Amino acid sequence: MKHILLRALGCFALSSMIPDMPAQSASRQASFPPADLMQIGAYYYPEAWPADQWPRDMANMKKMGMEFVHMGEFAWAYLEPTEGKFDFAWLDKNIELAAAQGLKVVLCTPTPTPPIWLTEKHPEVLMIDAAGRTQVHGTRQHASWSSPVYREYVAKIVNELGRRYGKDKRVWGWQLDNELTHYGKEPDFSPASQKKFQAWLQKRYGDIAALNRDWGNQFWSQLYQRFDQVRLPNPQEYVAQFNPHQMLDSQRWFAEETADYLKFQTDILRRYCGHDQWITTNHIHNFSAVNPVLNGGDFDVVSWTLYPVHGNANEGPMGFRLGSSAVLTFAADFMRSINGAHGIMELQPGQVNWGEVNPQPYPGAVRLWLMRSFATGAKFVCTYRYRQPLYGAELYHYGLVGPDGVTPTNGGEQYAQVAQEITQLRLAAQPGAPLPAAYAARRSAILYSYEARWDLDNHKQNKAWDSYDHLLKYHTALKRAGAPVDVITEDKDFSAYPFLIAPAYQLLDAKLVTRWRSYVEGGGHLILSARTGQKDRRGFLWEAAWAAPILDLIGAKIKFYDTLPAPNQGHINAGGQTHAWSTWGEILEPAAGTRVLATYSDQYYAGGVAAVTHQLGRGTVTYIGVDSEGGTLEAQLVRDVLTRAGVPVENLPAGFCVDFRDGLWIATNFTEKTVAAPVPATAKILIGARDVPIAGVAVWKE
Ligand code: GAL
Repeated sequence: MKHILLRALGCFALSSMIPDMPAQSASRQASFPPADLMQIGAYYYPEAWPADQWPRDMANMKKMGMEFVHMGEFAWAYLEPTEGKFDFAWLDKNIELAAAQGLKVVLCTPTPTPPIWLTEKHPEVLMIDAAGRTQVHGTRQHASWSSPVYREYVAKIVNELGRRYGKDKRVWGWQLDNELTHYGKEPDFSPASQKKFQAWLQKRYGDIAALNRDWGNQFWSQLYQRFDQVRLPNPQEYVAQFNPHQMLDSQRWFAEETADYLKFQTDILRRYCGHDQWITTNHIHNFSAVNPVLNGGDFDVVSWTLYPVHGNANEGPMGFRLGSSAVLTFAADFMRSINGAHGIMELQPGQVNWGEVNPQPYPGAVRLWLMRSFATGAKFVCTYRYRQPLYGAELYHYGLVGPDGVTPTNGGEQYAQVAQEITQLRLAAQPGAPLPAAYAARRSAILYSYEARWDLDNHKQNKAWDSYDHLLKYHTALKRAGAPVDVITEDKDFSAYPFLIAPAYQLLDAKLVTRWRSYVEGGGHLILSARTGQKDRRGFLWEAAWAAPILDLIGAKIKFYDTLPAPNQGHINAGGQTHAWSTWGEILEPAAGTRVLATYSDQYYAGGVAAVTHQLGRGTVTYIGVDSEGGTLEAQLVRDVLTRAGVPVENLPAGFCVDFRDGLWIATNFTEKTVAAPVPATAKILIGARDVPIAGVAVWKE
């Protein structure tokens, strides 16, 4: 077996998968010393609590094992109570109190919450939603970051903060704004946004004829004469279907515009702090109008927010209390892979208040999420929030301490436990230890594209198609095989991974197909799935055979595809195993030399081919043209690709992950039964036991 394993490893290096960028690398070493593993902290809003409680609260946070405190978010009205008059006394005092306790400070730019004097003086900065309603004071993130006037005010407050704290050694890092998305009401349709969209189009297309061509405006007489005639597409203003190419461009624009706003704030802060303090924002993780990759080069660490339990279903009967291992892990593997370092800026400490139903998490679930974050390489986890609020929009939201301000909640106790456990693990860890060979041999990447996903969602062709679920099926298949996974984008080098999966990669060009081909010829194992390569980057079909650019690569033609209306289900046979499907199935025609992996066992095309594989150069290409119910076919076929490549795989239940980090193995159990972790007899168990209960964790060292 050993020689097969070494052959499978081929030229793939065993060191860290995502290379650091130089400035980021230096600041990371200083801010996040590898020996610290993962640091834990909490959100605190001093402006909301009596000043005489500040010292007590800081001392109690420290006692609970917190290492940093997050402050100043949303505090613009306190930092600049009237235009141009700044008040930092309250923040200075809290930084001093934090430092006295040995707590590092994360500061925020308060820009999601403009003070009333600003919006009263400049109502033109207010955002306008899709229904044409101007948003008003009394909530948050109601201003347009495309407004030049708003940006002027933002620049002033960010400069003031940078000047005052940018060289302050007690300040560890910065979070910009808050979950930039207008909370699902994006994009903003204000005149400022419309103008910036038009300017972006002018820059992209140069002349209006090019835009008309690339949006297919010949259809339905949609031709424009000038860029200033174009508006952000708003389905609420259209009597019939929208133009998908225009929609795709507006999504690109909004993501770039938001990235530009974050860069605008980053550039200001950097003038003061350079890379001595880290800068990030707190991204929403599970896909939105904002693409975190676009600021990957700006931030020292990519951070995101995590709320696993808010009345959502998740997998299994306990999923609504445990959260989803697949969702958490996919997000972490994506955020970490953007620039090599990630942290969780918000993790719920217990019940939240904003779900339609807000259940209690399962006992131990908070610790489970913290340790799952640790296993995915997080540099820090911060909880939203330290104290339960007594008033305001987030009433009912749990904190580390309850409404009396001092008594730890159940979640608070779990944070304190993990803080102790991390201290214990720091003594046993081997920071930066290379991945063990058998584990490294399974290194895999999922190729992910926001643009492809927007385009799929703009025109699903079957309303039951779920792009996210499709991605998770492949990601889960890899985790079940025990693979370390990076979720990467096209800017990364594929050759670092023995296995690469591009699920439903709908938009592509010849350059990407050439890169895939040379990856495979060099020994890589590529898996492509249904809907890949059907369109060019504009979202046009090819004037050629269906998915023409990938046909040589996959060694098959795609005769047609089918989708089944509920409650119909089709079935697939793969090596004697039966799987159900309904959302999307392609019927393939293999070329000579291509091996059939799965066939349809019913419908009028029974016997038709659903999945194929073939050897190309030193590697293989596998094409899976169907989306199976529950991802069972994907799990089987992905596992087979690894096995055929001579790589030893695990067979873990979905929701039970085993990962390696800094010399430690970590198992986390999101399933609803006890699972035996694959702990070798010679290993030393540091936390938990071989049998890992529901919501349990085991950590061991070989
Ligand atoms: C987050 C948001 C926080 C807070 C939290 C409540 O999405 O960033 O500011 O509102 O939800 O759970």
